[in-house]
Amino acid sequence: MLRICSLSDLPEDEGVRFDTVTPPIALFLSAGEVFAIDDTCTHQDASLAEGWVEECRVECPLHASTFSLRTGEVDVPPAKLGVRTHRVDVVDGEVYVELSGETPNLPPGVTY
Ligand code: FES
Repeated sequence: MLRICSLSDLPEDEGVRFDTVTPPIALFLSAGEVFAIDDTCTHQDASLAEGWVEECRVECPLHASTFSLRTGEVDVPPAKLGVRTHRVDVVDGEVYVELSGETPNLPPGVTY
């Protein structure tokens, strides 16, 4: 697992983008839990860390599809594919992430 940040670096119900891994991931502290998903929306090149968080979902800042922070699934178009989720462990106030081995659903034209 990779140490990504300290728990105190994560504001409640706001995303934080980390590009220390490829593709970048977004971490969220919501309802007392830490979630990690791919940061890039699957529709176009938008950072989900900049989206609106509510009830463990994040709304894409560009076209308002929402993604589950728990499962990565998307609700309504224009995004059609979900994002990957990554396993998170918090140990002694430090946040560790195990990156998914699945292929990311990057939008057309976006490569890392
Ligand atoms: S860029 Fe995210 S829904 Fe369009």
